[in-house]
Amino acid sequence: MTQDITVLDAPKELLRDGSNRRKVFIKTYGCQMNVYDSGRMSDALDRDGYDQTEDLGEADLVLINTCHIREKAAEKVYSQLGRLRDMKKAREAEGREFMIGVAGCVAQAEGEEILRRAPAVDVVIGPQTYHRLPEALKRAKSGERVIDTEYAIEDKFEHLPATGKATIRARGVTSFLTVQEGCDKFCTFCVVPYTRGAEVSRPLAQIVDEAQKLVDGGVREITLLGQNVNAWHGVDGAGREMTLGDLLYRLAEIPGLARLRYTTSHPRDMDDRLIAAHRDLRALMPYLHLPVQSGSDRILKAMNRRHTADDYVRLIGKIRDARPDIAISGDFIVGFPGETDADFEDTMKIVETVRYAQAYSFKYSTRPGTPGADLKDQVPEDVKAERLERLQALLIRQQHEFAEECVGREVDVLLEKPGRYDGQLIGRSPWLQSVIVDAKALQIGDIVKVRITGTGPNSLIAEVAQN
Ligand code: 5AD
Ligand code: SF4
Repeated sequence: MTQDITVLDAPKELLRDGSNRRKVFIKTYGCQMNVYDSGRMSDALDRDGYDQTEDLGEADLVLINTCHIREKAAEKVYSQLGRLRDMKKAREAEGREFMIGVAGCVAQAEGEEILRRAPAVDVVIGPQTYHRLPEALKRAKSGERVIDTEYAIEDKFEHLPATGKATIRARGVTSFLTVQEGCDKFCTFCVVPYTRGAEVSRPLAQIVDEAQKLVDGGVREITLLGQNVNAWHGVDGAGREMTLGDLLYRLAEIPGLARLRYTTSHPRDMDDRLIAAHRDLRALMPYLHLPVQSGSDRILKAMNRRHTADDYVRLIGKIRDARPDIAISGDFIVGFPGETDADFEDTMKIVETVRYAQAYSFKYSTRPGTPGADLKDQVPEDVKAERLERLQALLIRQQHEFAEECVGREVDVLLEKPGRYDGQLIGRSPWLQSVIVDAKALQIGDIVKVRITGTGPNSLIAEVAQN
């Protein structure tokens, strides 16, 4: 099925620089889904007469794509809006247009509250309605303050991808591609089921079409995105049920698509087909982000994760049997309500057992409206801070050990961007490490075999391998 997307007329009046194009500055907070969404908003605005700018000073429109996952992330939005209000005043005094839009999960969760707390905001738009952004801006220009946070997810997926007249712009040699949104898992600490809504998978044909367009535009690596990406499901042309593993086998057939990744997964949805894909597909990179959150069964239960620490460890074993060189990454929360010293030690233990190549760890942050917010025994801030420090020290040590193990090895690197010095390019290893390569005569987009010669604080150093 192809969908035609309504292309709104670009603004006809000329701006002060003589063109009829305006400029949008997009600031993205939070996860990769937001990065992907900002790209799609930029595509929608491009068709509406806006070019993207990196310079706030020349923007006619500022969009903040927000994150609501932890309290700090949400509060940042309001301090940013305070600064933008002052800019808007100054611009308006010069008779220049300056519009402010708030998008993303804070927009979804707080809606009206944003207009109340930040009167300079013109448009509040939720993650499911980005395709209606041009229309919302039009309404805002005629003086209305617009809130559009309806759940219309099928709509968004029908409108934003590059089918019919719309175009998807490849912005480099790697790209995100959202295949699934929302979550039905309801972990008791998490706002996602409320801000992004119920789980929805994009249809196979739409995904294959978008992947093909990205590859046509020069993309060599695609990371499939979803809040719960391995819950993706669909049907093939013959009406057979498919899961994420099947989707990966299908995408691996696209000529020129050299690398595939996916994130973020839930342990409960790591099915045998997906594990087989890790065994069979050369294009599927040996890297898996599989959050466990805690190593304590008591806390896992209170978090409603619906698996034990042992289930997780055995699952990792099965995945490593299928793909021995796979690197595991994870997310952890310390200080969930009721977490004792013994529970925290269980988290340290599971980290020792699994050995992570990379990880993210956070202090529990109470999110209003989630079941965790009503739990007794909230852990004091100083205890959370102390636990986080210990956990992060261990995770960083493991990350460094993993990097050290790479020294002397030959690995394939996809070159993504210029390095700081002449003749250097920066790429990614199969395990998602940043690799600085002395790469004269090579080009961005090349996949090159290099020998890792050393490690830097956040990257590996390499030279092209001699055959
Ligand atoms: N407090 C702290 N961390 C959280 N995360 C999600 N919700 C919270 C919260 N309320 C973390 C989880 C998740 C990651 C994206 O953010 O570890 O996997
Ligand atoms: Fe949030 Fe992930 Fe749990 Fe869903 S599975 S509720 S997105 S932490």
